[in-house]
Amino acid sequence: MTTTNDKPRILTGDTPTGRLHLGHWVGSVENRVRLQDEYDCYFLLANMHAFTTRAETPDDIRTDTIEIVRDWLAAGVDPERSCIVLQTEIPAIAEMTWYFAMLLGYGRLMRNPTIKTEIDVKGLGDKYSFGFLMYAVGQIADILAFRPQYVPVGEDQIPHIEMCREIARKFDQLYCGVDPKLDDADYVQGGGVFPVPEGLVGRVARLVGVDGVNKMSKSLNNCIYLSDNEKQVKKKVNKIFTGRQSATEPGDTTNSLFQYVDAFITDEGRVAELKRKYAAGDDIGDGHVKAEVAEAINALLGPMRERRAEFEGPSGEATVIDIIKSGTQRANVVAEETLWMAKEAMKLDFFPRNLSLS
Ligand code: TRP
Repeated sequence: MTTTNDKPRILTGDTPTGRLHLGHWVGSVENRVRLQDEYDCYFLLANMHAFTTRAETPDDIRTDTIEIVRDWLAAGVDPERSCIVLQTEIPAIAEMTWYFAMLLGYGRLMRNPTIKTEIDVKGLGDKYSFGFLMYAVGQIADILAFRPQYVPVGEDQIPHIEMCREIARKFDQLYCGVDPKLDDADYVQGGGVFPVPEGLVGRVARLVGVDGVNKMSKSLNNCIYLSDNEKQVKKKVNKIFTGRQSATEPGDTTNSLFQYVDAFITDEGRVAELKRKYAAGDDIGDGHVKAEVAEAINALLGPMRERRAEFEGPSGEATVIDIIKSGTQRANVVAEETLWMAKEAMKLDFFPRNLSLS
């Protein structure tokens, strides 16, 4: 089997922790769907990472893994063009994690703000597993195994991408003799195995949740899920709190409700009109704006609901597993090729190997 095509590559992934919500959509998933035309895309199910904080719940992790694929497919990921990749069946990733771990200082890893926040938010204290810290190294391997140009992610992931870029440079300098003075964009041309990939954050970096205060997040119970039905969407949008008292009071068009107007109402003329009226207190209540926001969100989710139907239930699950298998098979061609290139550079190319799934 040969690698899929000659387009530049994209790699990104999600840890299966539950269903995807609108924050994921505007922050990253929308970008991924859009980029499928121009790029050779790899979407990774980071199921090994799920074990780093939930090792005692294998059943849930398996269910969440299938569920996130349903979300991706519903959102418009096209498995004919893009590879959906199961991390635990890409052995090159686990191997490369070891090699990269040797290039990353412990202190550097512990200064990664995403790791620090996670330890804080999840209340891990000093009880986190060794594997929890390993995930950050593993993520570097996830990315570099595919030698991608871009990594579309939410803004919370940028510190991981920065660490990945440092390791790519370090490997190329150390084992491929790349001149440290080269521009990031020239590392491969300059003889490196790895490009220095760039993070790509979506059009809304942090979408506020329906509590109107915090970032949309599963643990805060303030999410609109891609899989919500029309009624659920209406009900949740109605909850968005602005503190405005009446339809004739001049409104603040930067409030949480208007973040939704900006993010989901696609008719720009209508957005401008709503803002003008709201700011003027021109007899336009929050209820009215909410109805339009809910309608816009439902217009976005409608086609997703239709696509999802095909992947629901036991026969849908079998289809999902077939899709994962074929994507993982294609992904292994690339990842094995990368690992071999890295091994050559590291003088570990004693003999080649062949890998196949059955
Ligand atoms: N850590 C990411 C998250 O929790 C998921 C992830 C794993 C990822 N490997 C990746 C994202 C590689 C981008 C690239 O959302």
